[in-house]
Amino acid sequence: MMKQNYEKPVIKKLHTGSMNKFGRSPAYARKVRTEIDGVPIDDLVARHGSPLFVYSERSVRQKHRQMQTAFSTRYPNVVMGWSYKTNYLGAICALMHNLGSIAEVVSEMEYQKARDLGIPGEKIIFNGPHKPMSALERAVREGAIINVDHLDEVYDLEQIAQRLNIQIRVGIRLNLDCGIHPQWSRFGFNLESGQALEAVKRIKHGRKLILNGLHCHIGTFIMEASAYSKQVEKMVAFGYEVEDSYGFSMEYIDIGGGFPSRSRLKGVYLPPEVALPSMDEFAEAITGTLLKSLRPGDFPKLILESGRALIDEAGHLITTVVASKRLADGTRAYVADAGVNLLFTAYWYQFNIEMDREVGGINEKSVVYGPLCMNIDSIAEEVLLPRLTRGTRLVFSPVGAYNQTQSLQFIEYRPASVLISNSGEVELIREAEDLSDITHREKIPARLVDKGGLENQPVASDDRRKQ
Ligand SMILES: Cc1ncc(COP(=O)(O)O)c(C=O)c1O
Repeated sequence: MMKQNYEKPVIKKLHTGSMNKFGRSPAYARKVRTEIDGVPIDDLVARHGSPLFVYSERSVRQKHRQMQTAFSTRYPNVVMGWSYKTNYLGAICALMHNLGSIAEVVSEMEYQKARDLGIPGEKIIFNGPHKPMSALERAVREGAIINVDHLDEVYDLEQIAQRLNIQIRVGIRLNLDCGIHPQWSRFGFNLESGQALEAVKRIKHGRKLILNGLHCHIGTFIMEASAYSKQVEKMVAFGYEVEDSYGFSMEYIDIGGGFPSRSRLKGVYLPPEVALPSMDEFAEAITGTLLKSLRPGDFPKLILESGRALIDEAGHLITTVVASKRLADGTRAYVADAGVNLLFTAYWYQFNIEMDREVGGINEKSVVYGPLCMNIDSIAEEVLLPRLTRGTRLVFSPVGAYNQTQSLQFIEYRPASVLISNSGEVELIREAEDLSDITHREKIPARLVDKGGLENQPVASDDRRKQ
């Protein structure tokens, strides 16, 4: 029998599962997971190390098909755009494009990435508040769908039109009140204040741009289908006002992204299956309102720019418990080899945590810290766990959205990422980093290297010897 390490005894209140008004929170469920899509966790870690991002192709395909079916069976002109910022691993973007999504990018870097993946300009939606002149001009030349964020971008586009001696087709981004708060009012032109109409007038007056679409992204993890109904109703009404008064023709209504995944926002007690509308309910609300609001025979393109709903549940992060300790107040704490450097969204979401093995004993309210040597690096607070030993793997999910792209290279290397294909093959889609990833762009002035100086400094042990 393995000898147990001695630990000073403490008296702790036992929890069998904290209750809330809806019953027991599933955050406290004690689950074991030994595989992901049929591949043993042990094998994944043996081959690719820990921590490890693991993506399920099966999940992506299923979510993509579900969304496409929900919308295209209800409306005849649907275009899906994959929101790069949610997860721009090349393999993930390529998979989304394989499934029929065009690219939705919000920066010059993302635009370049889409082009490098072979996506032609006209299959790229270019959004975002910072489109440098060089990127804008390239997007214009390549025929991208450009949604203007502010008036300075209108002026830039007019300059480009002048230079190229062409008229440029653009959409404008709107922000509006559809009951979602806080309103994302820093992006685009406000509808209710008349700012959006002013922008249309300015575009008309400039005679260099042709307004052909409306864009609006109301936020992320939207839990009410009715918010999209209000959004669509307002966008269509505004589109007709623009068409009737200014002679532009609205070829597309781009409603952005925002559909939730089956994740749990902190502070929401109900399990996602109960708290969130299904994709069919979202599609019904959006297309139903569209069909009601559009004039007979009008079927502008309905563009979706989904991110989270397509990828979040496909992503898992395998971590390893590297230490266990008791805090001064008696709380059981674990140190894992991944923290907020890899799970940035831990600040807002309460992930499922599964163990790779059955562990006996009683549950104790515990906290899981990462390796960052920073007080804010905690990825699970108040999670009920049995006594875990070093080496236990914890699988965090769903983590496919906004974690990889927002991961930090702070005192640690970023780990490998793998994709489990439909047929169960494990494909490496990003290698683990090493020191060269951190240093290869650094330059050290020669004067600091040549006469480094440290060899002339006495070391502490010399001092001690002299004493
Ligand atoms: C303009 C735009 N479109 C699409 C998305 C994707 O949103 P989500 O991941 O919530 O679907 C975002 C994310 O913030 C966005 O800013």
